[in-house]
Amino acid sequence: METGLNGKRALVLGASKGLGFGIAQGLAEEGARVAIASRTLEGSKAAADKIGRDVLPFICDTGKVDQVDALVKDVTAALGGVDILVLNSGGPPPGKAQGVSSDQWRQSFEAMFVNLVRIADQLLPGMIERKFGRIISVISSGVIQPIPNLAISNAIRPALVGWGKTLASEVASAGVTVNAIAPGRIATDRLKQLDAANAERTGRSVEDVAAAARAGIPAGRYGEIEEFAAAAVFLASEKASFMTGSILRVDGGQISSTT
Ligand SMILES: NC(=O)c1ccc[n+]([C@@H]2O[C@H](COP(=O)([O-])OP(=O)(O)OC[C@H]3O[C@@H](n4cnc5c(N)ncnc54)[C@H](OP(=O)(O)O)[C@@H]3O)[C@@H](O)[C@H]2O)c1
Repeated sequence: METGLNGKRALVLGASKGLGFGIAQGLAEEGARVAIASRTLEGSKAAADKIGRDVLPFICDTGKVDQVDALVKDVTAALGGVDILVLNSGGPPPGKAQGVSSDQWRQSFEAMFVNLVRIADQLLPGMIERKFGRIISVISSGVIQPIPNLAISNAIRPALVGWGKTLASEVASAGVTVNAIAPGRIATDRLKQLDAANAERTGRSVEDVAAAARAGIPAGRYGEIEEFAAAAVFLASEKASFMTGSILRVDGGQISSTT
């Protein structure tokens, strides 16, 4: 498939490892010029070195507005603009819906929504002017089927979906698409941490917890990072030009509802 990504400029957040890293790697392999960010420059540099292909490393904690604004400025200066923006962030701590402090809600909302939208708002005018843009949000299967003990994720990620769907209709005629990808269970460090936390909470072994999780996935296994990244590469490509306002599931069939 000719993706048309050669020479396109991409910014991927939360990309020192896991899903963000996989997406950055997938875009770079298609010839895109990729900037990646994470909370430490060392982490981003190590990931950029691993990918090779002139990937540019940056620092950006999505919870810190000064770093967010500096990132936009520095990446725009380095690449001359951004055509593809991948809104990814670290996952929030697991926990019940009851008893989350107001400070924690605010902090998570800033890091997982407010500052991501802030980045998009600064990069959208360039995309609209050039008549090409791709905004891809990494969300979670929890927006369709809430996941027990992940209350913050279940509550905040739907905001990105509502924002993205509204934005999609505003910018579609300018050649800018806005989509989200919902991972089910993809084998990353985050998933290992969640399985470990779940094991501790329920008094089971991590192996038992993972086996029970796999049993709930029709494909019978966790997804690979590359399988998730492939969906993002497609959405970023010129081939996905008529796809906007959608949520793409990469979940091995895990989400049981049709909508
Ligand atoms: N894996 C799954 O199956 C799955 C399922 C549903 C939803 N998700 C969500 O998808 C996102 C990515 O998941 P993942 O599995 O790739 O997680 P991961 O393996 O923990 O990787 C997270 C990445 O984000 C960076 N990061 C963490 N906090 C950040 C922050 N405040 N600002 C900027 N970057 C930050 C991390 O780098 P540093 O630590 O170096 O900053 C790392 O590069 C998360 O929001 C997760 O909750 C994942």
